[in-house]
Amino acid sequence: MLLLNRFAVSLRHFQKLTKPRRWHHTSLTNELIENMDKKATWDRFYAENGSKGKFKNFEWFFGFHAVQEFILPVIQTMSHFHSHPLHILDMGCGTSALGPCVYKHSPCAVNVTCADISPVAIRLLEEHTNTLSLQSQNPSSVLSFIEMDCTQLRGQFESRSLDLILDKGTTDALVRSNEGRVKAGQIIRQCLQVLRTSGSLLQFSDEDPDARLVWLEREIRETDQAADVGVQEVGELRGVSYFCYQITPRVASHLKL
Ligand SMILES: C[S@@+](CC[C@H](N)C(=O)[O-])C[C@H]1O[C@@H](n2cnc3c(N)ncnc32)[C@H](O)[C@@H]1O
Repeated sequence: MLLLNRFAVSLRHFQKLTKPRRWHHTSLTNELIENMDKKATWDRFYAENGSKGKFKNFEWFFGFHAVQEFILPVIQTMSHFHSHPLHILDMGCGTSALGPCVYKHSPCAVNVTCADISPVAIRLLEEHTNTLSLQSQNPSSVLSFIEMDCTQLRGQFESRSLDLILDKGTTDALVRSNEGRVKAGQIIRQCLQVLRTSGSLLQFSDEDPDARLVWLEREIRETDQAADVGVQEVGELRGVSYFCYQITPRVASHLKL
């Protein structure tokens, strides 16, 4: 079932974001853009970025502060139903501060895993985060980093073991590359297997709902896991609209209490 929960949010503060470092085509050739599903592309990108001197998180689209109100309430609601720390995956984290910020700012206990196919990104992010000695709001929270191919989530995580998966720009990168669309579909299917039935996948994207919702619905139909899809508008930045797609596994009616 497609739940179109779309509303316009006048996020004035969204405009006041700390200036994000956006993806500029000048820093990336077309050849690289076409190969955004490849590990080598990202290794090269993050190595180049990391060699520019002092480390700075690279944020695709925008940083944590633009989307915290889409993430923290979901965590808060989930925490009411669980006694364990919520297991959260930042899928294709790159060197974004999203995962470390969720770890730092979540009032409830979270076990945040930052995962990326690029070992260069993981090394840079982990090293940088360690230098910050971040204090989490909740003393039981945990933060870890892992190099992994997210088309193979099942090799790393047990079935129904994750509470929340965050995807800021990872699916977008895959669907825009020449051969990445199939991998993006694989990732959706893997997410639906490793998410708890009470869990959610949040995709932050600049893809228009007309295209993304149809694609998501088609991919979900190919799995044996029914799921609901909703979308909210995050806001507009420099003339581009951004969206938050929420994919939630649906519990089979005969299993409902
Ligand atoms: C557009 S960047 C987004 C990075 C980060 N989420 C952000 O917000 O800045 C896409 C990221 O996905 C990663 N990636 C691409 N394919 C992947 C895969 N199969 N498994 C895990 N990460 C992948 C890339 O290495 C890159 O860091």
